[in-house]
This record gives sequence, C-alpha cells and structure tokens, in this order.
Amino acid sequence: MSQYPIPQASSLPVVSHAELDANPHEALRRWRAAAPAIERDDGVCIVLRADGVEDLLFDPRTQQLDGATYAAIRGVPQGALHDLLSTSMLLSNAPRHKPRRAPMSRMMSARAIDALRPLIRSLAESLIDEFENDGQVELVSRFAAPLPPLVISHVLGAPAKDAPEFSRWVYQVSPAFSAASPAQDIPRMIEGAENLTRYAEALLDGEPSAAQAGAGLSGLVESLSAGELSPAEAKAQLATVILGGSDTTRTAIASVVALTLAHGCPWSLFASDSQLSASAVSEALRYDPPVGSVPRFSLADIVLDGFTIPAGRMVSLSTLSALRDPHRFNDPDRFDIHRADQPRWPVAFGGGVHRCLGEALARAELEECLMALSRRFPTMRLIGPPPKLRGYAGIRGVDELHLAW
Ligand code: HEM
Repeated sequence: MSQYPIPQASSLPVVSHAELDANPHEALRRWRAAAPAIERDDGVCIVLRADGVEDLLFDPRTQQLDGATYAAIRGVPQGALHDLLSTSMLLSNAPRHKPRRAPMSRMMSARAIDALRPLIRSLAESLIDEFENDGQVELVSRFAAPLPPLVISHVLGAPAKDAPEFSRWVYQVSPAFSAASPAQDIPRMIEGAENLTRYAEALLDGEPSAAQAGAGLSGLVESLSAGELSPAEAKAQLATVILGGSDTTRTAIASVVALTLAHGCPWSLFASDSQLSASAVSEALRYDPPVGSVPRFSLADIVLDGFTIPAGRMVSLSTLSALRDPHRFNDPDRFDIHRADQPRWPVAFGGGVHRCLGEALARAELEECLMALSRRFPTMRLIGPPPKLRGYAGIRGVDELHLAW
C-alpha cells in the first residue's frame, strides 16, 4: 500500500531522456514526489517509487522484456547480437527462462562463492602489487576493470590470459541490454556480440585457446548434451554470465571505494572488519546502484497510486529511484554505512525469477577489494572530486577514479 497521496490524474507525466540523463538523482527525486511513474519521450514507462518497483518485479501483469521483440525494436533482426538478445536468460520468460538459468546457477551458490574468496583476495593483491609503489593510481583501469573478468574466467575455468580481450567485447556489447543506449552504437555492439559469442563457443567446444574450460562449465555442457539447451542457447548463457559479471562489478568497485573515501568513512578499519566492509558495500549499492533500472513489459493496464501504465508498454523499473525513496529509507540521500534500514533483498540486484545470479559473487568481490585496498593503503585518499556514475538506466558506467596514498 503506497504512502504517497493518491491524486485524481491518470496519465503519466512525459519527461525527456535529456532531463533524466542530465542529473538523474535530482530529476528522479522531483518526479518521484509528483507521480509513481513517468513516461519517457520514447514511450517507455519508468516506475519510480520503491513499492511500485518492488511489487512489479513479482507482478504477473509484467513479464521480462522478450529478447526477440526487443532485438526487433532495436533494429537488429538477425546475427550474433540478435541471437544473444533473443536467447539470453536475462531477456527470457517461461518456459525457456528456467532451463537457461539453471545450469549456471549451480556454480553461483553462496557456498561455492565463499570458497572462492581466497582466490579473489589473491587476484586483488596481485593487481595491487603492480601499482603499489607508484604513490597514486587511476583505479578503474588498473584495478576495477581488470579484476571482475579475471574472477569470472576462473569461475568458468577459462584461461586468465583471455580476460582482457573478452572484457573489451563485454564493454562493446553490454549497452545493447539498455533501451536507452544510442542507436548509432549498434554496429559496435554487434561487433562485441560476434566476438563474445565466438569466444563462448570456443569455450564450450574446449578449443585449444580455451583448453582449461572445465568445472564452471560442466552444468552448461551437461544441459547441452541432454538436449535441454540448443547450442545457440548455451553460448548465449555463457556470454550472459561473462557480461553480467564484468562491467556491473567494475562500476561497483569504483563506486564503493569513491563513496567511502568521499564520505569520510573509517577507511583503515575496512582492512580487518569484514562486517563493516559488507555494510559499506550494501550502502554503496543502495546509494548509487550500478544497475539503474531493470526492463519489463506490461501485459495489462497497471494502476499505481491513481496513475495508469497502459498494457503493451516497455516498462523500466527504476532501481536508482526506488533505492532513494524517502518512504522506504530514512534520509535516503545520506550515505550511511551504519544504516539500520538496509533491506534483506535490495532491488539493486533486481527481484523475482530474474534476481541477479551473481549477487553472492559480486558481494564477495566488492568486500574483498575494499578490504585489500584498505589493508595495503591505509592512508588512501581521493585526488579531486569522486567520479559520478554515468546514466540512470541499465548498467551504469564510470570513467576514472584517481587516488593517492
Ligand atoms: C554489483 C554487481 C552487480 C549488480 C548491481 C547486478 C545487478 C543485476 C540486476 C539488477 C539483475 C536483474 C535484471 C533483470 O531483472 O532484468 C541482474 C541479473 C543478472 N546478473 Fe547481475 N549484477 C551484478 C553482478 C553480477 C555478477 C558478478 C554476475 C555473474 C557472474 C551477474 C550475473 C547476472 C545474470 C546472469 C543475470 C540474469 C539473471 C536472470 O535473468 O535470470 N551479475 N544483475
């Protein structure tokens, strides 16, 4: 039940992409107070309030945006990008979503990820070794970007030497999953999808360049042999996990470091206090989530606080807005690592059947990174203002983060 006053109006206010993009938190704060949802100038309905976002993640009147339909809307009728969008678990619904997700979820259990912590720690430490004597670093390129692909290669049993190359393709293709990404970038996304799915195919076939492919992929290979997945589906799930595990976590690593330093948190304590590090990670993911929204499609008219989202529309559930809703969080614009109202299942990782498959891995990476950086650089400080995360929808980017010690 919403705590906002219910007005008489029924059609959604129309807001331009430019207004939202110029200053996302400010624009969303203003519109969230006025209406539960807005209509962007391209017709996408954006849900703003926490209760609306949380409910619609589970509401049968919405479903995941269908990948094939979405590819057609984006003007990608065939080819590698089309195949990736239309068979990825991320843009699938019943009955195909479950068999596409199941083989990958086995390797992402909390227990499996806990066992990975020593490896994550040592990968973080070895990246730090490369710049520890420099006195300063641009953290995104030297640490936040290279770490997640190294971790995901290990999880999948792929050779670590391939990580820099596939992460380049990931950055090319991941904007394709956001409806707000510019159409002129589609050729770049296609190139990234071609390379990434070719790489996924080589891993599945166990070709020499990817010869160590093993444990992490066994579930996928079994589903393929059992005929539960087609070869195109198996490739797409592998590419999806590589995609899901790379630039989301890059943005998040940079963000948690920048936010804790900028807000005067007890930086040197993170080294030995795993609980404090975990709380800082949760608060960074709330305060500025690396995934700003998740897409859905409305199957029926949906009335929120007196406003109607019509049936048959692309819907964007704004995690960015929901996580700053004053009706859900006390003083939501304050960064507070000791906050007591942190939800058990934050929408930063989505919700329902599509809830992030890699949440445990992402949290382990973020916590281990924060602890390793604090341990090695107890006097670390920001050079200049903290970077702003780019965008308000889908996966958000970060440019540079300059630090010194
Ligand atoms: C801080 C880092 C991360 C954030 C904020 C994040 C966020 C999300 C969100 C919001 C969704 C739901 C999308 C939707 O409902 O449409 C999602 C799905 C997904 N994520 Fe993550 N993610 C992160 C890290 C990871 C990692 C490390 C992996 C894999 C190794 C991963 C793999 C996936 C996959 C495969 C899905 C699709 C699940 C499905 O459709 O069933 N994510 N993620």
